[in-house]
Amino acid sequence: MQQKRIFLKDYQAPTHQIRHTELTFELGAETTVVTAVSKFSKIIDAPLFLNGKELELVSIKLDGKDLIPPDYDRSDEGITIHQTPTEFTLEIITKIYPSKNTALEGLYVSKGILSTQCEAQGFRRITYFLDRPDVLTKFRTTLRGSKKDFPVLLCNGNRISGKDLSDGRHEVIWEDPSLKPCYLFALVGGDLGVLRDNFTTSSGRQVNLEIYSVPGTQKQCQHAMDSLKKSMSWDENVFGREYDLNDYMIVAIDDFNAGAMENKGLNVFNSRLVFADDQVATDEDFFAIESVIAHEYFHNWTGNRITLRDWFHLSLKEGLTVFRDQEFSGDMSDRSVQRLKDVETLKLRQFAEDAGPNAHPVRPESCLSVDNFFTATIYEKGAEVIRMLSVLLGRKSFLKGMDLYFSRHDGQAVTIEDFVKCFEDTSKRDLAQFREWYRQKGTPVLEVSESYDPSDKTYSLKFVQDQTPAVLIPVQMGFLNADGSALYINHPDIRPNSDGELIFEMDQKEKVLIFNNVSQKPVPSLLRQFSAPVHLKFSRDANDHLLIAAFDSDGFNRRAAFTDLVRQSVLGAPFDNVEKAFGSLLNDKKISALLKATILKPTHFDEIIQTESTVNVKELSNRYRDLFQKLASTYRSQLIEIYTRSLGLNQKGYSTELLGERLLKNRALDYLSFDKNIPEEIISQAQTQLASAKGLSDVMSALHFLLRQGKGTRELQNNLLKNYSGFPLVLQKIYAAFSSQQNDDAFVCTREIMERPEFDSKNPNNIYATLRTFGLNTSIFHQGKPDIYGFYMDWVHRIDGYNPQVSARLMGAFNLVGKLPAENKLLIKDSLHKLLVKEPSANLRELAESVYQTL
Ligand code: ARG
Ligand code: ZN
Repeated sequence: MQQKRIFLKDYQAPTHQIRHTELTFELGAETTVVTAVSKFSKIIDAPLFLNGKELELVSIKLDGKDLIPPDYDRSDEGITIHQTPTEFTLEIITKIYPSKNTALEGLYVSKGILSTQCEAQGFRRITYFLDRPDVLTKFRTTLRGSKKDFPVLLCNGNRISGKDLSDGRHEVIWEDPSLKPCYLFALVGGDLGVLRDNFTTSSGRQVNLEIYSVPGTQKQCQHAMDSLKKSMSWDENVFGREYDLNDYMIVAIDDFNAGAMENKGLNVFNSRLVFADDQVATDEDFFAIESVIAHEYFHNWTGNRITLRDWFHLSLKEGLTVFRDQEFSGDMSDRSVQRLKDVETLKLRQFAEDAGPNAHPVRPESCLSVDNFFTATIYEKGAEVIRMLSVLLGRKSFLKGMDLYFSRHDGQAVTIEDFVKCFEDTSKRDLAQFREWYRQKGTPVLEVSESYDPSDKTYSLKFVQDQTPAVLIPVQMGFLNADGSALYINHPDIRPNSDGELIFEMDQKEKVLIFNNVSQKPVPSLLRQFSAPVHLKFSRDANDHLLIAAFDSDGFNRRAAFTDLVRQSVLGAPFDNVEKAFGSLLNDKKISALLKATILKPTHFDEIIQTESTVNVKELSNRYRDLFQKLASTYRSQLIEIYTRSLGLNQKGYSTELLGERLLKNRALDYLSFDKNIPEEIISQAQTQLASAKGLSDVMSALHFLLRQGKGTRELQNNLLKNYSGFPLVLQKIYAAFSSQQNDDAFVCTREIMERPEFDSKNPNNIYATLRTFGLNTSIFHQGKPDIYGFYMDWVHRIDGYNPQVSARLMGAFNLVGKLPAENKLLIKDSLHKLLVKEPSANLRELAESVYQTL
């Protein structure tokens, strides 16, 4: 079946609206019968088309009268009812088979729990419906099922009533007072325990907070609960947004394609983003949970109360909500640290995507499969675009625009244009050029050069961008003196925004800033806090990089300077500058351990090669390893000192200080892992750390160290897999550690782990931990061996047979295909060809073909 390409420009308003929907589910894991009674209004005189996929239609009645063909037509995509009155009621009965649903969209079973995922187009796998975000309706839902199998029955909104039925079943009725599109519908049925708490909103509403998960795991949900409460008060304090229902429920399940889903009043989460304690979660996981709990909560306003007109505008809610969760996380810990982490994700995921076959604008114009829109570009670049807006307008004016957005569009399904218009109206600023960010794909390159003339004391900075038409790039900047102190020099084009940040608005193809009366060459610090998602190319003296790395008040640029030196050195520049920059950062007594450890995180190999047009993976990865080896041996004694002095820190606890110390300790270990001549006792200390650590961060850091030191024996692997066999979330981290090793064992281990009898390949987390991690292990995956690509593609094909969303995601491994040597391209082409002739799903085909076409 060929799926049709759909275009933004072809958008048409719905022909019908639904005033009310009454759903009844006779729940069973094997068979579920769904009765949908909906009141329709005809808006435009046209036939009624209802989406439906893989449904068994039992009956369909219009105003009580059975419809039979030719009253309607049926296809793989849905049914068309040729004639309808203006106002009418449809009753549709469908049968679905949850336990056979391996795609994990619609209604499915995860470890005995019935659960739904309707975004983007899963509702059409439950009943025939107007499955589009601009059809909003009120739902009342009756759930009936076995009291033994499904003692807990949940749905959106308020629980109206519950009663026992005959033959061991019971019934619960839910009513959601909010208008919502069907992609926000959810139901859950299962044997679940619950952790309860409550929150009083600023206007005094009492909200019951409930986190559901398998019985016995309630203690592991405490961190998620604390995060939820923090999110609720933060959104009140910062955005003035209050929660609007009496209950807020979260359910954790093990089998979930994505991270989590913001269904109205009933979030469904991948259990990986709920469960946290010393045994199953690293420090990073604690932060990730806080951020995703917040993300889904923030969607209640940005996504649910104000939703999308159509899926091309997905970034309207996702980019905005990521921006909000990033701001929240910054406020909860350390803003500079958060910014460094967010930019690293942006560069590794989004810049890579934007440079590859699946590059697309933040507001795409066409697609085959809506599922493929859930990308780093829609999420992360979308958030960057909003961040730029807030930098350009200043925080106060930005929030004024947000207020207008909330009041003007509450209850509506709108577009990105509607959003931008709010800021134009409140700030009175013309945002025509700013809108380019939504239309263009690819990462803009901003090239900067400088010159200083001591004779007439003029300094000039020249900016050139590669975009046509030019995009508006806010360049946050400052200057340093040669001794590292802050220097203030003025230029009419560098203006403070209302937050006091100095911003140069680069809005032309080319612009030169000239400064007069400057007595010595200033050292500019450009794009502070990464104020725009661009590749900054500034070729300047290495000494200036060193100065920035050592002294800049902007933590972000200290790391950026260090990274630039690392990159240059991997690409051939001398090593001594990296060594010096590293030393000045390592010995800095003024910054927190947390910030220091974050700045010093070894630059990811993928980030190094990002700006290269061709990449010899083998050669560059060797040079990369050599560089870190040299750094580690040069600073061996200091790194050992940092590592060993904090060894006593083998303790739990999540205060900022402890987190920082622990991160720095394990960062030192991270560098030491590169050292070829490491003292034996460090190795045995790491082995002790692995065996007896009290927290999982320490366990995982020790494991990564040992793997890089070549101590990843089969015995170690077997022991770990055995010891953690009751902890699937930990197993997934162990899988990922083995699949991300920087040697050929990565391939061997990935294959072996995936072939183990207990390996559940239907669980998306397991595939992401093994196969996806391996595919993103650039230096091993792309070393040019045919059996590696063949192995990967065989699995992709196999997974595509039961879960197209997961198989499609695996195409991300080929983002850098354009940079690879011809031999690799041929191998990839060959293996992709074999995949494409086997008729992959629409999701996979769209992405596989776009890779294929670049070869
Ligand atoms: N809306 C969800 C979130 O960002 C993600 C849902 C993912 N859906 C998917 N089809 N991949 O919070
Ligand atoms: Zn989201």
